[in-house]
Amino acid sequence: MTTIIAHRGASKLAPENTMVAFKLAYQHGAEGIETDVQLTKDNVPILMHDEKINRTTNGEGFIKDLTYKQLQQYDAGKWFHRKFEGSMVPTLETFLKWIKDKPLYLNIELKNNKIDYKHLESIVYEMVTHFKLQDHTILSSFNPNSIKRMKPFQKTMDIAFLTKKGSKNILDATKQLGASSLHMNHKYITENLVKQSHAKNLSVRAYTVNKANHMMTCFQTGCDGIFTDLPHKGMQYRELYHYYETFL
Ligand code: G3P
Ligand code: CA
Repeated sequence: MTTIIAHRGASKLAPENTMVAFKLAYQHGAEGIETDVQLTKDNVPILMHDEKINRTTNGEGFIKDLTYKQLQQYDAGKWFHRKFEGSMVPTLETFLKWIKDKPLYLNIELKNNKIDYKHLESIVYEMVTHFKLQDHTILSSFNPNSIKRMKPFQKTMDIAFLTKKGSKNILDATKQLGASSLHMNHKYITENLVKQSHAKNLSVRAYTVNKANHMMTCFQTGCDGIFTDLPHKGMQYRELYHYYETFL
């Protein structure tokens, strides 16, 4: 069955990549949580999608130029709604501590395709291992060199290559990089692609799927997971999809 993974938490209902968005996703029945990791100036892994803090906080500048202490001064919730004022940018450590005892999959996307943060792969790997979360963790990246660097981690974790576009040889390219999964824009995922991927022992997951008809199409392809900003809808539509399968 296709796993429902909350994209940056329940990010249509709460400020993305904050603890409140992750907690809401869990309450809404998500089976997994996706988040993005970047590194501060003093090498603290923190959760944010953009390289700059401008869009999702009341501050400005690159994360790489701020220490964690400096980053803590900024509000990561008020931009979304004043109700969320006081939300902070979470560290990866805070997130892992919270998720540790929950029956959730996690997908940590290394945001190193624009800034190739030094040692990001090993920093994240060691932290996930410290919390003994290897079994339900997927590490992903759009950066092919980072995927190559993570090849040794595949023994204990799922490593996913992220791609914006489908191409003819994408499955072989993914295998060659040493990944065990492929994460693609949902537009490019077909039943045939999923079959071919599974034949090559690759899992396929689709991002970012928010509309009912797109979710239904993904479920029909048999893909392994979808990333959605609305996890409660994902759970609801998946149930409906299987109801249709049986009764229509
Ligand atoms: O990991 C799937 C998806 O999150 C990739 O795109 O830009 O939302 O990080 P983006
Ligand atoms: Ca992401």
